[in-house]
Amino acid sequence: MEVLEERQLGLVVLRPAGEVPFDEAGDELLPPHWAELWPSGLALAAEPVPAGARVLEIGCGLGLPALAAARAGAEVTAVDLSPTAIDLVRRSAERNGLALTARASSWTALRGEWDLVLAADVLYGHRNVVELREVLPRLAPEVWLTDPGRPLTPELLADWDVTSTRRGEVTLHRLRRR
Ligand SMILES: C[S@@+](CC[C@H](N)C(=O)[O-])C[C@H]1O[C@@H](n2cnc3c(N)ncnc32)[C@H](O)[C@@H]1O
Repeated sequence: MEVLEERQLGLVVLRPAGEVPFDEAGDELLPPHWAELWPSGLALAAEPVPAGARVLEIGCGLGLPALAAARAGAEVTAVDLSPTAIDLVRRSAERNGLALTARASSWTALRGEWDLVLAADVLYGHRNVVELREVLPRLAPEVWLTDPGRPLTPELLADWDVTSTRRGEVTLHRLRRR
């Protein structure tokens, strides 16, 4: 796969150039969702994360928020279904001289506790909402979710105390466990 380097927020992000190979473990769309830097990912990466926090990014795709959090001094784990995406996130971290853990996994398989979960544009299907309603409360007391106004988002927000702020064309929802 041919790869190009894009610069965003002072970070180098590796992304596929041209055709993206079909990735058995990733989502089934072509081009796959992970291969693009979505407006929600760009907006989330601009939110300052506390240094030293244990941060998990789920559905990270190309992982810009994870890279920005690692640069801010957080202890970061980035997770996506697609091993191809995760390979690029690892290489992006190396290219920026940053340390993070990147793992190809479904969010349903995650075990552990973090201070903060980051999630950019992950609520595009009902299965995702059902899974994340179950999974998120046991992963962290706080979630920062950016979203372009997906119709199913209110279903997930209903379980949390939420503060929502507009960030350009997307909304940042800060969720606190009740
Ligand atoms: C719309 S993309 C957003 C990518 C990135 N967060 C961004 O905003 O640029 C959704 C991402 O969620 C990932 N994803 C979907 N279902 C997943 C699951 N069950 N576990 C982990 N990642 C998943 C996809 O592979 C894809 O990278």
